[in-house]
Amino acid sequence: MLMFGVILASSGLLLMIEKGILAEVKPPPLHPAAGELSRRGGGGGGGGEEAPGDLDYEVLRDIRNRTIRAVCGQRAMPRSVWELPAGQRRTVLRHLLVSDKYRFLYCYVPKVACSNWKRILKVLDGALESVDVKLKMDHKSDLVFLGDMKPDEISYRLKNYYKFIFVRNPMERLLSAYRNKFGEIKEYQQKYGVEIVRRYRKNGNSAGDDVTFSEFLRYLLDEDVERMNEHWMPIYNLCQPCAVRYDFIGSYERLNADADYVLERVQSPSFIRFPERQSWYKPVTAETLHYYLCNTQRRLIKELLPKYILDFSLFAYPLPNITSEFCRQ
Ligand SMILES: *[C@@H]1O[C@H](CO)[C@@H](O)[C@H](O)[C@H]1NC(C)=O
Ligand SMILES: *[C@@H]1O[C@H](CO)[C@@H](O)[C@H](O)[C@H]1NC(C)=O
Repeated sequence: MLMFGVILASSGLLLMIEKGILAEVKPPPLHPAAGELSRRGGGGGGGGEEAPGDLDYEVLRDIRNRTIRAVCGQRAMPRSVWELPAGQRRTVLRHLLVSDKYRFLYCYVPKVACSNWKRILKVLDGALESVDVKLKMDHKSDLVFLGDMKPDEISYRLKNYYKFIFVRNPMERLLSAYRNKFGEIKEYQQKYGVEIVRRYRKNGNSAGDDVTFSEFLRYLLDEDVERMNEHWMPIYNLCQPCAVRYDFIGSYERLNADADYVLERVQSPSFIRFPERQSWYKPVTAETLHYYLCNTQRRLIKELLPKYILDFSLFAYPLPNITSEFCRQ
């Protein structure tokens, strides 16, 4: 019931975005207030000339900020982590990583460069010598999770620390999770793949290593968002952007510039740079996304969108274009 209202409200906002809410948004000032704008590539930006894209990005950030305020301002939405049901609170507190030295909280979202951020945290903490150390990432050791602290310690940090997350187009994130986990990771094929095939394929019997994207989406349709694996749980549930008022929302689409901005903002030592993409990393390109979306039943994608609608709307990502016109291209 509650969720229904929220979805209605946010798809209203979504419609506004699709129809060009841009026209209603006041143009941002040409010289944003100090500290508001990310560091320009190459340190340029003098002389009053905007680098292309920067103004668009300011507008996007403004839309995100307004949407979050509008949606989170509704009566049914949580205003602090203490208002959340225990299970939801546990999830978000387990995803908030703490740096006491630099006084920030980072909510990690799998498939949005979270390994690199974890590396940075370890380097900042002195547990790792450099972000480039070629070691398999240990996702637990040498990290401090907010959920391991006492309530008053948690409240203090939520109130006083700089809080940020990084977000990504929800469809791209799902596709990335699908290709990585079901294409490459045995443990996932066994833990989830076997069951997915059993459920959704006639005479389904497999080692779980041949799950199709459609089968994966059908599985997501049947799963409860609050119990999903973190690699496909909506960002809204992982990071609770209404209960936690983030100071900054970075975009995967601008990863390096936004990461630099955050590192500067928390005053990390200048020798710490956000790592380059791993060489083995296979990015999801527009062509790949097009291929998967257009080879999936449209009905399936449409039915799945409500589950991720808050990720689309709060972070201002357009809904996937699955018109036959687009798919003919
Ligand atoms: C939204 O805008 C407010 C006021 O300008 C600012 O304090 C806040 O950090 C912004 N939030 C995000 C996520 O950008
Ligand atoms: C979808 O893609 C087609 C073809 O590129 C385009 O004409 C159409 O305007 C797009 N629709 C939306 C809603 O973006």
